[in-house]
Amino acid sequence: MADILDVVAVVGSLRRESFTRRFTQALGALAPQSLEIEIVGVGDLPLYNQDHDSDSPQASQNFRARIKRANGVLFATPEYNRSVPGVLKNAIDVGSRPEGKSVWAGKPAAIVSVTPYGLGAFGANHHLRQSLVFLDMPTLQQPELYVSRAESLLDASGRISSPQTKELAVKFLKAFEAWIRRNTPAG
Ligand code: FNR
Repeated sequence: MADILDVVAVVGSLRRESFTRRFTQALGALAPQSLEIEIVGVGDLPLYNQDHDSDSPQASQNFRARIKRANGVLFATPEYNRSVPGVLKNAIDVGSRPEGKSVWAGKPAAIVSVTPYGLGAFGANHHLRQSLVFLDMPTLQQPELYVSRAESLLDASGRISSPQTKELAVKFLKAFEAWIRRNTPAG
């Protein structure tokens, strides 16, 4: 297995000033050198349509190829109506097809859920876990990373300003790296 792990972050917000993207970038800055996190855009993915499984749009093919190459996937989700935003669900659906060719299968995953409100986007985090069970993605369970009041945790330069959150983030990233290594078949 590679010394440096390639992690794709799939961020479920298209908003310019997205707290979720900003928090994911802050996580990337805290990651150990052996874990590289790259945010992959999902905004240009067409809505999934099963009719095009054999001639998928180029953006969908590129997305699938990028996930396939990755050692692990970090899902970063806001919460919309106690679930994940449609844009994230669409990306998940795109990656899951054609049938039998899901790029998610077996890929180690972790989830961070982010909200400017309370409750840490718990509803989105756990709805997402339901899909990841079906997709057969071994998903990090501990530590859980629910981020409430996101705007108060980031400073002007986009770093995590709260010492407790920073400590939890570092623990989460270390656990995720170990999780990827443990859940990647040898060879
Ligand atoms: C929200 N928001 C929201 N927040 C939350 O904590 N629980 C929820 O169920 C919802 N529901 C919801 C639905 C819709 C359609 C919108 C647009 C928003 C508020 C949400 O957390 C807020 O807009 C965040 O800023 C979205 O995340 P980003 O874009 O900042 O990453």
